[in-house]
Amino acid sequence: MISIEDFLEDIVGKAMRGQRISVQDLATKSGISSSSIAELLEGRVDEETITSIAPHLNLDSKSLIISGRKSWYPEPVNVQGLEMYNTKWSDMYVNSYLVWDRSNRTAVAFDTGADSQQLIDTVHSNNLNLESIYLTHTHTDHIADLARLKSSFPSIRVYVSEKEPIKEAELIEDGHNFSIGNLSVNSRLTWGHSKGGLTYVINGLERPVAIVGDALFAGSMGGGVVSYMDALKTNRKYIFTLPDHTVICPGHGPMSSIGEEKKNNPFYPEFKNN
Ligand SMILES: [Fe+2]
Repeated sequence: MISIEDFLEDIVGKAMRGQRISVQDLATKSGISSSSIAELLEGRVDEETITSIAPHLNLDSKSLIISGRKSWYPEPVNVQGLEMYNTKWSDMYVNSYLVWDRSNRTAVAFDTGADSQQLIDTVHSNNLNLESIYLTHTHTDHIADLARLKSSFPSIRVYVSEKEPIKEAELIEDGHNFSIGNLSVNSRLTWGHSKGGLTYVINGLERPVAIVGDALFAGSMGGGVVSYMDALKTNRKYIFTLPDHTVICPGHGPMSSIGEEKKNNPFYPEFKNN
């Protein structure tokens, strides 16, 4: 089982860094001691501390407590024509995906992960025609095996956001539409974690599928490295407006769904019925 990427301490740390709130600021605002907050940032689950600090970080306290207890895991996802690859990158794991139209065997890869061999094996064993690679963003872990994937399929084309150009890829604009056989794909600029982070929304499989890169994780999100507030804003606009049964395919951690993220992701308190 792929482990959840972030728990309580990671989420609170990301929210504090993103909003530039120090331990001391948070202590003053919440009336909780700095030492209790420091313990929480080490992973200590104390309900009073969590409930007191959460509103000052615009986080949902109930789902934060659940995250601290590690008592939630998303429902397994099984969609034909969608395969996830979880490969080891240094001391972490990263995901890449293969999507194909079963009626005509046209396939597209999303990112390469640390090692694309399993993806290449799926292409061959299912007799697929891998046309292109679309990148969610260009952080090294997501494109680490690009050279091998390209050289395994000499006519393959590689695409990336025009806001994150790399020499190996052709540039696409935000909102670019394309197809994978009879499947339709729409790209959306979910930036904030990276400058040109793209989410690819695929329609035509048994469920809608959103390949989100590091914009969103099961129960968390990628760090707001470029802009935390814009990461939240673009996720709200371009991901959380998708139907609840949409599959979320993140760059780290397990797959999830919009409905489960509305209930369990502490960064989005507006969807909770507390
Ligand atoms: Fe990233």
